[in-house]
Amino acid sequence: MNAAKLELTTKKPTLPITEIEHSGFCKSSDELPAKPLMEELKVNVRWQKIPVEYLHLSAEELDRRIGAARKKLGKKVIILGHHYQREEVIEYADIQGDSYLLSKEAASRPEADFIIFCGVHFMAETARILCAPQQRVILPNMTAGCSMADMAPSDDVADAWDDLEEVLGKGEVLPVTYMNSTAAIKALCGRNGGIVCTSSNAPGVFEWAYKRAGRILFLPDQHLGRNTGLKSGVKLDEMAVWNPFKPLGGNTPEQLKKSKLILWRGHCSVHTRFTVKQIESARQRYPDVKVVVHPECTMETVQAADMHGSTEFIRKAINNAPSGSVWAVGTEISLVNRLAKQNPDKVVFCLDPIVCPCSTMYRIHPAYVAWVLDGLLEGQVVNEIKVDEETKKHAQVALERMLQVR
Ligand code: 13P
Ligand code: SF4
Repeated sequence: MNAAKLELTTKKPTLPITEIEHSGFCKSSDELPAKPLMEELKVNVRWQKIPVEYLHLSAEELDRRIGAARKKLGKKVIILGHHYQREEVIEYADIQGDSYLLSKEAASRPEADFIIFCGVHFMAETARILCAPQQRVILPNMTAGCSMADMAPSDDVADAWDDLEEVLGKGEVLPVTYMNSTAAIKALCGRNGGIVCTSSNAPGVFEWAYKRAGRILFLPDQHLGRNTGLKSGVKLDEMAVWNPFKPLGGNTPEQLKKSKLILWRGHCSVHTRFTVKQIESARQRYPDVKVVVHPECTMETVQAADMHGSTEFIRKAINNAPSGSVWAVGTEISLVNRLAKQNPDKVVFCLDPIVCPCSTMYRIHPAYVAWVLDGLLEGQVVNEIKVDEETKKHAQVALERMLQVR
């Protein structure tokens, strides 16, 4: 690597706008019922423009409208809903699940002409890649992104990949991306022998990858990468962190050469709020408490918890637990509140006393669901997710490798 190239790879640090919006979105109470969209627009996040008629509809009017449209459209439409969707949206989902389950469902429902994905952009994009070509995928609000995915812009990842191949040599590092990433990054993995993982199959995917290479580049969540690396026997001093704003990610060529796991410096601002201190105070309040957290939490938090796993894992752990048990949960508040409501015989609470919904998931308001359904009734596909053929081809390879792992 020459000096000119190193200078070129220095970038001005920028925070994704979705990350800034998360921090302004925490609430002082856990009252989160949907209000007419006009009132919610006052919350300081970006919303996609929507026809004015949807702005003032009450929850009851929207419910009537969505019900009527669904009845007319019948089996032509399937609605997939991620566990973090608000109550007033998840109730319309034909299938609820974590990223892994929903991607499998998207791949196995060719009978539906339209898949409405109530989740975030990378999930809808994954559904687009895995479903049949004639099916159309819709994301009700196009501003529903993911701040973690936004921390790995495709161009920065492509530059980093070039630098790594130059320093380490071709075939010396295998790219593995978390589902929370753009289709372009999944395609980079597919083209270079790599694979996708979700929080529910990350250890299996690491095992798959280490059978094929001695070193992994893991994108974009450093915490899931570190937690999974430790589970797979990689030591902390065998891990390097890649800061996209520094030449060579802030590493020397020697550090990269001795690493077994290179972690892209991304994180989830919802999950990095959970701390060891919160776990200690939950244990003080309830000595028998079980602490379950998502693996996007920091290493310290994951290690202090009793168990960790995907949103589906957390849901099953609590739903299957004995009556009277007590659960402190480190994940997004809409799911925690739902689990508390569905399990009145147990004590279920969020580790973080300040309520912080995922502000991007929250952008799917029932008004947007009504809007895209009304569009279908009029023969219009509003907010269709498209992926160009070349990207789709390679991303599909990486996703299908993932679906084979478990
Ligand atoms: P799951 O795959 O566990 O549903 O997680 C997705 C996600 O975005 C968590 O923040
Ligand atoms: Fe992205 Fe975090 Fe929201 Fe999950 S909770 S969608 S990782 S910002």
